[in-house]
Amino acid sequence: MEFKDRHILLGITGGIAAYKSVELLRLLKKAGADVHVAMTEAALQFVGRTTFEVLSENCVLTNLWKDTASSVTHIDIATSIDAAIIAPATANFIGKYAHGIADDALLTTLLAVTSPVMICPSMNTDMYQNIRVQRNLDILEQDGIHILDPDDGVLACKTVGAGRLPDPWFIFDRLCKLLTPKDLVGRQILVTAGPTIEAIDPVRYVSNHSSGKMGYAIAEAAEQRGARVTLISGPVSLDPPVGVECIFVESCEQMAAAVFSHLAAADIIVKVAAVADYRPIDPGTRKIKKNQASKEITIAMTENMDILNRIGELKTDRQFLVGFAAETNDLEKHALAKIKKKNLDMIAANLVGTGDSGFKTNTNKVKLFFKDGSSKDIPLMDKHKVAHILLDTIIEQTG
Ligand code: PMT
Repeated sequence: MEFKDRHILLGITGGIAAYKSVELLRLLKKAGADVHVAMTEAALQFVGRTTFEVLSENCVLTNLWKDTASSVTHIDIATSIDAAIIAPATANFIGKYAHGIADDALLTTLLAVTSPVMICPSMNTDMYQNIRVQRNLDILEQDGIHILDPDDGVLACKTVGAGRLPDPWFIFDRLCKLLTPKDLVGRQILVTAGPTIEAIDPVRYVSNHSSGKMGYAIAEAAEQRGARVTLISGPVSLDPPVGVECIFVESCEQMAAAVFSHLAAADIIVKVAAVADYRPIDPGTRKIKKNQASKEITIAMTENMDILNRIGELKTDRQFLVGFAAETNDLEKHALAKIKKKNLDMIAANLVGTGDSGFKTNTNKVKLFFKDGSSKDIPLMDKHKVAHILLDTIIEQTG
């Protein structure tokens, strides 16, 4: 998600996990956000103000009497931000915030905030589970404050249990979700992504260059927009998108089985996976040995099921089916042929082999084609942005 023109208040309270807030700030800045940092006196015991000032390119607010350009700086910040994120949030902070106490710059600023607030509790497990802390968290939740549960793990105090501040990328991801309009609530989306691999023998396989980036971007964007998402993925080296049901498969046969067991529940199906069209007929159970007598080897292949084609035959009127087409030439001709043959509602045709579009790249150049022959050009852009435009278009088409 882009944070360009977004203003964020990053509140940091005094816990050992305060060092992770540096990385969170870096992620926010990288996404284009204007970030104002407010730190408690205790937070300053863990991480220096200078680090946050340099990275945020803004003055850090710690003291209402000393750090402010005007007597109402905290109000200016509170009224200009799109969201506030408090990471880490200590038991002390949670207790005071739940009861409207405003005895430092961060708490005072937060009382004037009307935009969404997310807090990330982080502390020793017994402290976190303490009935008073839980009661205070309940109060905040009932007041509409978003609570990001801490992770389980080994804590700084060597306790093993709940209380770890989640990784900065995860906090960033959940903040993105908080700020994303929820226009897919109530929709169930099935996405396939990545390549399939078809065994030749126990150590070798036939596959393709799909990295999963395009499909994962669609699954992630749909989840952030409120959809329930199932992602069926071939082998890739990406982290599973947060909040998405992920099913990992290898071959076309396994992908087909997973797709057909989830098909009935789906309202929208987006088939991004690069499925192998053929598989070795008889994958050996032993490694094929080098043949000294011949320099050539022939592997007999047979056609795989065309999963998309079969979905097109089975789909009901309430289901919206989107295919992808990876083409090196004659994009329009091939895309229009596929939309008809496979009974699709829409196809996203992308050029492959251009260096900045298609397999493995972070960007993609896509043209969308519809059943009635019309089309929509999407300029070359980041796959995450393509994902949002694709979802915008699906919403337009499905009403
Ligand atoms: O994963 P990335 O590195 O980000 O790359 C993204 C991508 C280039 C893989 C993606 O944008 C894309 O184009 N995916 C479709 C690739 C493909 O297999 O195209 P195709 O023209 O061969 O297949 C057309 C459609 O039929 C696809 O929706 C495919 O999922 C489906 N198909 C194909 C063969 C088969 N046996 N079963 C299928 O369901």
